[in-house]
Amino acid sequence: MNTQDFIYKTPQLLPDLGSYRAEAPSNIALVKYWGKYGEQLPKNTSISYTLDNCKTKTEVVLKKRIEADDQFHFEVYLDGELKPAFKSKIETFLKRIETYTPFLKSFEFEIHTKNTFPHSSGIASSASGMAALSKCFMAMENSVKPELTDEFISKKTSFLARLGSGSACRSTGGKLVVWGKHQDIEGSSSFFGIDYPYEVHANFRAFQDSILLIDEGQKQVSSSIGHDLMHGHPFAEQRFQQADDNISKLKSILSSGNFDEFFALVESEALSLHAMMMTSSPYFILMKPNTLEVINKIWELRKSEGVQVGFTLDAGANVHLLYPNASSARVRKFINEDLIQFCQGEKVIHDQIQF
Ligand code: PMV
Repeated sequence: MNTQDFIYKTPQLLPDLGSYRAEAPSNIALVKYWGKYGEQLPKNTSISYTLDNCKTKTEVVLKKRIEADDQFHFEVYLDGELKPAFKSKIETFLKRIETYTPFLKSFEFEIHTKNTFPHSSGIASSASGMAALSKCFMAMENSVKPELTDEFISKKTSFLARLGSGSACRSTGGKLVVWGKHQDIEGSSSFFGIDYPYEVHANFRAFQDSILLIDEGQKQVSSSIGHDLMHGHPFAEQRFQQADDNISKLKSILSSGNFDEFFALVESEALSLHAMMMTSSPYFILMKPNTLEVINKIWELRKSEGVQVGFTLDAGANVHLLYPNASSARVRKFINEDLIQFCQGEKVIHDQIQF
C-alpha cells in the first residue's frame, strides 16, 4: 500500500453531522523510538506492548456544516471541561493530516476526551489520545466510504496517528506493535505501525505492567524537544543502530521465551534512552532518586530470589515494572512491601497485556 492511497480524493463527500466515538490504549515501548526526521518518521524501529486498561476515550461531534476556509473550527474538552490549552497541539495535528481528512474544515466540531488514568499521573496520554482521535476521523471517512477494507482502515488510522504523535501509531491496533521499516520484520513500515507478524512464546503473551508513579509533575522535557536533541547528538548514529540491532535480538527472544535475555534487553533500552538525554546538549536527568531506588530493589530481588521481573522507563521518572503472570503474587507483595514507599502518594497503576 502506497501512502498516496491515504489521500482523500473525494472532498465533496462529507460525513453526516453527529457523534463519532472511539477509544485507544496506551502503549509501552520495549525498544524505544527516540529521534525522528521528515514528517514524523522514526530514525529507528521500535516495538511496544499495548496496555489493556490505560485508555483514552474520545468523541468528536460534528455540530454544523460551514463553508470551508483556511481555519479549523473546533473546541476541546477534557472530562467535560473546556481546555483551550490543548488546542494548539491538536491544530498542528489537523494541519498535518489535512490532505488525508479534508472534510474536517467543512464543520464546526467539538472534541470530548477522557482518560481512564489520571491526567496528572505522568503517563503520556498523547499516544492514546492521538490514536483515539485518528480512529474518530477514520470512522467519519468510513461512514461515507463503506467499501474501505479493514486493512486500509487499520493502516490509515495508524498513519494519521503517527502525524499526531509518533508513538501513537503503535496504539491504533494490535497487542505487540512494530513501527519503522526493518529488514527482519516483514511488512514493517516507517509510515504506520503493524501487528508483530511472528509467533510469540506463551511466556510473553500474559504480562503485567505495574506503573510506579514516582513523580506526577509535568515532564521537564517534552518529547518533541527530546527528539530534536538527537540531531547533532554525538551518539545518535550508534543509538539508532543499537535499537535496530535490538529489534533483531528481541525477535529471537520473543520466539524462544527466554526471560533473562528479555529483561536484559528491555532494561538496557530504557537506560540507553535516558543516556541519550543525559548526553545531549543541553542535557537532562529525567530519573529521580526514587527511580534509582526502585531499579536497585528490582535488581536485588531478581538476584536473591530469581524472580522474573524487570523494568522499563518512558521519558520521565516513572517505572514500569514488567513481569509475567506467573510472578504476579511475589511481585505484588514486593511492590506493597518494598517499592510503594518510593511512589508519590503511594500511587501504582496496575495494567496488563494479554493475547
Ligand atoms: O510519541 P512521542 O513523540 O511522544 O515519543 C515518545 C517516545 C518514547 O515514549 C520515550 C519512547 C517510545 O518509543 O514510546
